[in-house]
Amino acid sequence: MSSSESLPPTHNPRMHQGGKLSFRSRVQDLDDDPGDRLVIGGKNPPTMLELAPAGYDDLEIEVGSGKGAFLLAATEVKPDTFLLGIEAATGYASLAATKLKQSGRRNGLLLVDNGKLFLQDRVDEAQLAAVHVYFPDPWPKRRHAGRRFFTPDVVPVLARAIRDGGFLYFASDNAAYSGQVARVMGAAVDFVRDEQEEARVRAAGQGHAFSPTNFERKYLEQGRVIRRYAFRRHPR
Ligand SMILES: C[S@@+](CC[C@H](N)C(=O)[O-])C[C@H]1O[C@@H](n2cnc3c(N)ncnc32)[C@H](O)[C@@H]1O
Repeated sequence: MSSSESLPPTHNPRMHQGGKLSFRSRVQDLDDDPGDRLVIGGKNPPTMLELAPAGYDDLEIEVGSGKGAFLLAATEVKPDTFLLGIEAATGYASLAATKLKQSGRRNGLLLVDNGKLFLQDRVDEAQLAAVHVYFPDPWPKRRHAGRRFFTPDVVPVLARAIRDGGFLYFASDNAAYSGQVARVMGAAVDFVRDEQEEARVRAAGQGHAFSPTNFERKYLEQGRVIRRYAFRRHPR
């Protein structure tokens, strides 16, 4: 028997790079009906070009969209932008897609996949106006470090996918992880932190970047300090 034949039928190697990505489960809502707003990526997910309808000014990706609060707000305030939410946990992706379907908006979609791999092998060079990563799992144990989104190898992946002048937006309550992101992205020759952009999107209001997210809401209630960074892609 070959090694692939010995794998259980549900095993998807895309979801196990560096370890299992998601331990989340959700009590299933019986009325979940994501319709065509949910795509299960499986072992061979479609590309960004295949997923995004023609005619949008900007294509953006949110990695780890969770229950979809940001995706819902962003698709409302930016109707000319197409936003793909990539979520490792199928139950969360289905919940977010159901809300998106109920909104009637067509400028967003949920994909069940590994966001880092998707950026690497399903996105064209300079295809994206922005990548959003909010409250990524910090995986504090050393043996789990490979599961983090922000490892040094993610910088060239982001630099390839984001167009000149485009942005990586990041938010987290975790001081150590935020410090790591600030150091790694701050040292990257292809990006520069842009505090004017951080102020601009915060003034523009919810759905432009950073906010709202479900984890943000929870952590604000707990009085935690939240760090929010925007990194601009230098011209190639
Ligand atoms: C802490 S939650 C934050 C969810 C949401 N961004 C928020 O702020 O409410 C992190 C989410 O990222 C997802 N996730 C973790 N690694 C991922 C990856 N490589 N690709 C896609 N989703 C991922 C998890 O399943 C989880 O839903």
